[in-house]
Amino acid sequence: MEFDAELVRARLAGKGIGRPLHFLAAVDSTNRWAWELARAGAPEGTLVIADRQTAGRGRLERVWQSPPGCNLYASILLRPSIPAAEAPRITLMAGVAVAEALLPLCRAGVNLKWPNDVRIGERKVCGILAEMRTLGAAIALVAGIGVNVNMVRADFDPAFRESATSLFEETGRVQSREELAVALCGRFEKWYETLLCEGFPPVRERWLSLCGMAGRRVRLLFRGEEREGRVAGIDEDGALLLSDDRGDIRRVTAGDVRILG
Ligand code: BTN
Repeated sequence: MEFDAELVRARLAGKGIGRPLHFLAAVDSTNRWAWELARAGAPEGTLVIADRQTAGRGRLERVWQSPPGCNLYASILLRPSIPAAEAPRITLMAGVAVAEALLPLCRAGVNLKWPNDVRIGERKVCGILAEMRTLGAAIALVAGIGVNVNMVRADFDPAFRESATSLFEETGRVQSREELAVALCGRFEKWYETLLCEGFPPVRERWLSLCGMAGRRVRLLFRGEEREGRVAGIDEDGALLLSDDRGDIRRVTAGDVRILG
C-alpha cells in the first residue's frame, strides 16, 4: 500500500520531532539522506522516511533489507547540546521509544536487546542505527530506525528468517505504517525531552524494564574476539554489564551480543 506522507505531516503538525518530513519513494539510505539535509542546515527533529531503500545500512557494516510497500524506514536528525561521549545514550533512548510505540499493537513480548534491537519474543522486529558526527563545534546525530511492519516471513532473507519477524507476522493484522510513524515520533519526543531535562537515569530505568536479556547468558563478539557472560544490566553510560563465571563485572561498550540457550 502507498505511504500517505500527507497524513503523517498533518498528524505531526506542531510537534518537535517529525518535522519537516521528507518522504522519498526510494533512496539508498534514509540515514545518508538525513546527513545531506543536516549539512544543508536542516533543523532538529527533521524526519526522513522512504518507501524503500536500495542500500539500507545496518550496524557493523551490515545490509538492512528494505523492500518497498511494507516496512518503515525512518531517520530522525538531532542536534543535542551534549558531549559526544553521551551519544550512546540516545541509541538506548531510541530503543525505548520504539518499544513503547509497538507495545499498544503487540501487548505481549516486546523487549529490548542491547544495544539497539527491538524484539518480539526472541525475534528482531526493529533495528536502530544511531550515527554521530561533529558539525563545526556541535554534534549532530541521526537515529535511523527500521521496523519490519507488514513484511511476510517468506520475503525475509533466508539468513534472517528464523531470527527476524514483522508486526504482521506477530499480530496477524496489516498495520498502518503512517500510524506507527506518528506514534514513534511521539514516544521519541517524550523520551528525548526526558533525556535532555532529567538525564539518563529515567531512560535507563525504562530500558531495564523492557530489557529481554537480564540474567541471560550471552556471547559477545567484538573485533574477532569472543567472550561469554551473564547480563547484569546497563550502567549510567549505557554500557552493557556482563558478569563472568567468577562474578566479576565487565563493561561492554561495543560489539554484537548473541543470547545463548
Ligand atoms: C541494525 O539493527 O543493524 C540497524 C538497522 C537500522 C536500519 C535503519 S532503516 C532506516 C535507517 N536507514 C538506514 O540505512 N538504516 C536505518
